[in-house]
Amino acid sequence: MALKIGFATQKGGPGKSTLARATAIGYAQNDWSVKIADFDLDQNTSTRWHQRRLQRDHQPAVAAEQFGSVAQALLLADNYDLMIFDGAPKASMATVDMAQACDLLVIPTGLALDDLEPAVELADKLHFKHGIPTERIVFALNHASDSDAELLEAREYLSYKPYFVLDSHLAQKVSYSRAMDVGLSVIEVSPKGLRSKAERLISSLIERATALSSK
Ligand SMILES: Nc1ncnc2c1ncn2[C@@H]1O[C@H](COP(=O)(O)OP(=O)(O)OP(=O)(O)O)[C@@H](O)[C@H]1O
Ligand SMILES: [Mg+2]
Repeated sequence: MALKIGFATQKGGPGKSTLARATAIGYAQNDWSVKIADFDLDQNTSTRWHQRRLQRDHQPAVAAEQFGSVAQALLLADNYDLMIFDGAPKASMATVDMAQACDLLVIPTGLALDDLEPAVELADKLHFKHGIPTERIVFALNHASDSDAELLEAREYLSYKPYFVLDSHLAQKVSYSRAMDVGLSVIEVSPKGLRSKAERLISSLIERATALSSK
């Protein structure tokens, strides 16, 4: 059975597609066959990113396709080792379907309270209202500034919540967005320091998924 990892948020833009792509490539680098299911039907950003990747023949290859519902994507999931669910900009009932279907649900968030509060609200809704176990919900910190204090405070805020927070974080860097402009993921950027930070975040995500799926 395919492993399933979803990316969801309540507000738009915190990095679902960025992390979905990097996770896809991280697994593909380990020879997994991976499909990204893109649920952003209005902007289809991950399918467009995938076209840019194909045009430049970047390796490893992953597949990507748009889907209107989680049920449709699930019909194809077992043709792959891993299906990634790249959620639509805003949470909806499809987010609940996704959380129920996935082994791991990743909620990317910025570091300000304006970002953290809706991220925790979504996790709480999925857990308390829809019964998704806390252990299957993880937060990933993105769009970090160069302030260590902000990072520490964000981690402290999340430490009082019952959800796992991935190691490492993504700083807000033009190298990351430019890499995606040419079909690369954030774990494939040229600057070594930025690449290894992104790799640590994705390794933490993969370790978490492995720990859950081997239970
Ligand atoms: N760490 C980062 N540094 C620089 N740019 C970033 C970073 N993370 C994401 N971005 C950029 O921010 C924008 C939003 O990121 P992304 O598309 O991953 O978010 P999203 O949650 O998928 O958005 P949506 O809700 O619209 O689907 C994109 O232009 C992306 O390239
Ligand atoms: Mg997106």
